Amino acid sequence: MGTYDPGKYHVDLDRIPNINESPGPKSRELHARASKYFRGLSGQVRLFPVAFESGEGCVLRDVDGNQYIDFSSGIYVTTLGHCHPKVSEAVAQYAKTLMNCHDFTTEIKVRLIEKIVEIMPADLEGIQLYDSGTTAVEAALRTCRAATGKTEFISCYRDFHGKSGHAVSLANMTKFSGTGRSQGFYMVPRPDTYRPLWRRADGSLDTEAYLDFYDTFIKESTTGQIAAFVLEPIQGWGGSVMPPDDFFPKLRTFCDARGILLVADEVLTGIGRTGDWLCTNHWNTVPDVATLGKGFGNGFPVTAMVVRAPYADAVDKISASTSYGGNPMACAAALASIEVIEEEGLLAHAQHLEELFIERMADWPRRYPIVGHTRAKGCLLGVELVKDQGTKEPFDEAGKLVYQKAFARGLAWIPAGHILRMSPPIIMPDDVAMKGMDIIEESIAEVAAEFGYSASRAPLAATA
Ligand SMILES: Cc1ncc(COP(=O)(O)O)c(C=O)c1O
Repeated sequence: MGTYDPGKYHVDLDRIPNINESPGPKSRELHARASKYFRGLSGQVRLFPVAFESGEGCVLRDVDGNQYIDFSSGIYVTTLGHCHPKVSEAVAQYAKTLMNCHDFTTEIKVRLIEKIVEIMPADLEGIQLYDSGTTAVEAALRTCRAATGKTEFISCYRDFHGKSGHAVSLANMTKFSGTGRSQGFYMVPRPDTYRPLWRRADGSLDTEAYLDFYDTFIKESTTGQIAAFVLEPIQGWGGSVMPPDDFFPKLRTFCDARGILLVADEVLTGIGRTGDWLCTNHWNTVPDVATLGKGFGNGFPVTAMVVRAPYADAVDKISASTSYGGNPMACAAALASIEVIEEEGLLAHAQHLEELFIERMADWPRRYPIVGHTRAKGCLLGVELVKDQGTKEPFDEAGKLVYQKAFARGLAWIPAGHILRMSPPIIMPDDVAMKGMDIIEESIAEVAAEFGYSASRAPLAATA
């Protein structure tokens, strides 16, 4: 593992962020032309219709010349910042040499799969490559069915796994499922340390009570034919919701005792985002199947399903290959991304940033009555905005406004109802990270005041 060099990703904070008018005239003109035909835009774009032109490291530039600090890595994708030279060159090399040869073996694929095995926990060694997180999740479900002979799945409310038929059936978001969810897909609540459903006498979250509930639920509400428990290690789309540290180890034991496979959907959390190759590593838990995506190719569409040895042969039964999965450009992008993380010491840097973020946000609930909770794991952050810290009533209107105000100040990031979600690239230098936090804090302070909350009881922290 190398050592992080902040000089490599230096941002001149006297010049950046630099917002003249955003969205500016060129953005508005392009957006109007696109909107004439392009349908199904995300809420993110509808709230802030800016047109981007280029990106380098932690900085994004729009068509009007405005420059933003990137606090979302696209949508949790460009973990190594925009256009990392090593990744771009690796893709370019194969774009000129060999773009696709279905799933025939190539040397670059062999090097990638050997590298994946090297960074995964022991035993996670059956690999197949895909081109979207959704396809990897679908393959994981089919693998679990083939491995167990059972057909049903348990997943968690507000987790997100993609937008195809079965992936949406793992979620409870009707806007994604359109016509409804498939049969045999059951959902249970997952532990959320800020909003526990079951508590111990001392008020802390009671993990055992969740597992007891799952046990009863399986006995009374399912056919008992559960192939796998599928969940995100940390809920991403749902708002960086973290489980207590004992949840995954206990869930592992729970699944083993019942012959249920454990699938960790690490599309969002894997490959460095939380400061480790897999987020489940933080809890010394090895899933039976893990899915990788997003930061895996740092922007190039490449994803993977990794299966524990005892079940790896099941992958041979699902006709696993696809048109684009494992194409040479994709393999080159993924291998280069992993090597950059190793060579530049980025897992350790993501852990270091986590400490800075946690410290920086620690007193926000005291300063701002609309902040209910703050949290971070690596470079995955969440801030819950509430109308009342006692009742914890979600404050969606405030979340939307904070998003827009921070964006207008030069922070490119993701909206999410009352939970502010942040996922800066793990290459980000400390001062840039703290500048991003300044912008968010200023925006929260302004929104709190606009809604009539007496803002801080102490002056705002100065930029580090
Ligand atoms: C945890 C998780 N799984 C799966 C997916 C689907 O990935 P994709 O959009 O690449 O199909 C996502 C996308 O946000 C995700 O966050």
